[in-house]
Amino acid sequence: MTLRPKKPSESKVVTTHFVMPDDTNHLGYLLGGRLLHWMDLVAAIVSQKHSERVTVTVAVDNVEFNRPIGLGDIVTIEGFVTRAFNTSMEVFIDVWAENVPKGNRYHATSAFYTFVAIDSAGKPIPVCPVEPETDREKYLFETAVLRREFRLFMAGRINIESLDKLVERLREVRNTLSNF
Ligand SMILES: CC(C)(COP(=O)(O)OP(=O)(O)OC[C@H]1O[C@@H](n2cnc3c(N)ncnc32)[C@H](O)[C@@H]1OP(=O)(O)O)[C@@H](O)C(=O)NCCC(=O)NCCS
Repeated sequence: MTLRPKKPSESKVVTTHFVMPDDTNHLGYLLGGRLLHWMDLVAAIVSQKHSERVTVTVAVDNVEFNRPIGLGDIVTIEGFVTRAFNTSMEVFIDVWAENVPKGNRYHATSAFYTFVAIDSAGKPIPVCPVEPETDREKYLFETAVLRREFRLFMAGRINIESLDKLVERLREVRNTLSNF
C-alpha cells in the first residue's frame, strides 16, 4: 500500500462489449441500465487499481443518452481517474459505439463517477493523489474541484453559503485553464 502520486495511465481501463439481444429493450436498443452497469464496473476497477483498496460508488453524474446503441453494435468503454481528494476519487468514463459492418463509429455518452475507498470495517480511508500527464488529464484534474463542489451541493452536503467559495474557485480554475 502506497500513497505516492499515481498517473491516470497506471489505472486506466478499456473494455469492449458486443450488444446481444439480452442487453436490449423492445426497440432493439441497448438498455440504459445495462450500459450504466458496464460503466460502473469500469469505474470500480479504475478506482480499485488507483487506490489499491476496496471501493464503492458514492455518486454518478451527468449521464445523457443522446443516441441509441443498437443490437450487434460494439461498445467500448474507457475509464481513468481524474483526481483524488481525501478518501474519494473522481473517475471519467467515456463510451463509444460502433457498427462495424456499416463502418459507423460514434461517441455515445460520458459520465463522472465518484468512488470512495473503504477499509475492512466499511469506513472511508485516504487514497493516493493523482498526477495528471496529458493536457486532457490536466484539464479534467483542474476542473474536478468544481464538479466536486457542485456534486456536494446537489447532494445537500454543502450549504448555499459555500457557493460563494465555489465562485472564487471557479475564477481560480478559469485562470489555470487559460494555460490549456
Ligand atoms: C461511501 C460511504 C462509505 C461514505 O460514507 P460517509 O459516512 O458518507 O463518509 P464521508 O462523509 O466521510 O464521505 C466520504 C467521502 O465521500 C464523499 N462523498 C460523500 N457523498 C458524496 C456525494 N454525494 N458526492 C460526491 N462525494 C461524496 C465525501 O466528500 C468524502 O470525500 P473526501 O474524503 O475525498 O473528502 C457510504 O456512504 C456508503 O457506504 N455508501 C454506500 C456505497 C454503496 O453501497 N455503493 C453502491 C451503491 S449502488
